[in-house]
Amino acid sequence: MTEANIVRVYEDSETLYRAAAELTTAHLKAAIGERGRALVALSGGSLTSRLYPLLANPPLRDQIDWPTLSVLFADERYVPFDHPDNTCRATHQSLLDHVPVVAEQIFPVATYYRDPEQAAAIYQQQTAALLQAHNGHLDVALLGMGPDGHTASLFPRHPALLTATDELVIVVRDAPKPPPLRISLTPTALNTARLVVFVVSGADKAAAVAAALAERGDPLDHPTRAIHPPAGRVCWLLDRAGASAIDA
Ligand code: 6PG
Repeated sequence: MTEANIVRVYEDSETLYRAAAELTTAHLKAAIGERGRALVALSGGSLTSRLYPLLANPPLRDQIDWPTLSVLFADERYVPFDHPDNTCRATHQSLLDHVPVVAEQIFPVATYYRDPEQAAAIYQQQTAALLQAHNGHLDVALLGMGPDGHTASLFPRHPALLTATDELVIVVRDAPKPPPLRISLTPTALNTARLVVFVVSGADKAAAVAAALAERGDPLDHPTRAIHPPAGRVCWLLDRAGASAIDA
């Protein structure tokens, strides 16, 4: 799997996030140019504070035909929309409120259901319908990775990973990163992507990066290794600190 990964290392986190925003923009532009629309899956965490503001502002903002975009979430923290931890809320604040998109283009996880299984079932249907409308592909999946190697809300050795199989969406309980209740796209969904971008910064993630890119490794221990789209590319964008343990 490792030979399919493209790895780029940047001097510092600022140049890393700039490059990630530029790559995302270029890929969305090309997708929209070819097919007239694009489907993107967004993650939370530092992407919301570091990457999305770059997309929301000139010059990149003006290069994307926003009304042709549909937005899914790679994962969501199962807290109400008005909770500070809600990824959709943070994505609105940093990106979606600043670009010409309308509510019909944005597909948040419905975290207002008391039963998260119900929200997951609805998200499964929406994701399946969107994929069908986009010839079976996400155009871009933007992902981060935690120091433990999790991506989206796919945590190492978590029981939810074992049951993921063909589902597109899973409920994740007892996640080690708070909040404990989450909903995530599965590797099956993420592997429809034409481009997966992992954006990873910081020395605390260096060991997990090295394990993710090593010759061998179990995807259950390193969930990013389960992301290898058969018809797409995987691009790891790292800063120097994040890359510091590769080949060590
Ligand atoms: C979330 C995520 C999660 C995140 C990584 C990296 O809960 O926010 O979707 O997978 O992308 O934990 O987060 P940082 O980039 O903030 O370290």
